Amino acid sequence: MAIERTLSMVKPDVVGKNMIGKIYQRFEAAGLQIVAARMMRLSRPEAERFYAVHRHKPFYRSLVEFMTCGPIMAQVLEGEDAIRKNREVMGATNPDDAEPGTIRADFATNVEQNAVHGSDAPETAVQEIAFFFSNEQICERRAADSRA
Ligand code: CDP
Ligand code: MG
Repeated sequence: MAIERTLSMVKPDVVGKNMIGKIYQRFEAAGLQIVAARMMRLSRPEAERFYAVHRHKPFYRSLVEFMTCGPIMAQVLEGEDAIRKNREVMGATNPDDAEPGTIRADFATNVEQNAVHGSDAPETAVQEIAFFFSNEQICERRAADSRA
């Protein structure tokens, strides 16, 4: 299994509840390393662009409203099979369908305010990482860890 990188967001619902650290703990407990992180408030055009794939869906307008209602944390997670592993730790989109112990089962309010975003495939991971971070903003942890 290859070492991968994936783009994760802690959504405004969790940031508003002051629970960023609890979400980061889940990533780290699953063996995923945070190699870049930033807090920002998405503008409306940014949220529209990030979720452009959903622009024809009935929930798109409301999703953009939600994602711009307060700051998000964006992070790059790195690890073995990181894209799939992060999706597993996140749980299903609708918290009613999410496995017990997943982030969405434990922190989501509903199918829209569902705590976290995670890339769903290698191609989207590359695009979504580039949406938030330049290569220089992503830290090499493996080299640092081997010196510890
Ligand atoms: O985030 P995920 O990849 O699991 O789901 P998605 O199908 O790519 O949808 C993106 C986001 O749209 C979800 O995480 C929800 O915040 C929102 N959504 C919604 O509000 N209502 C739905 N029926 C489906 C998704
Ligand atoms: Mg998705």
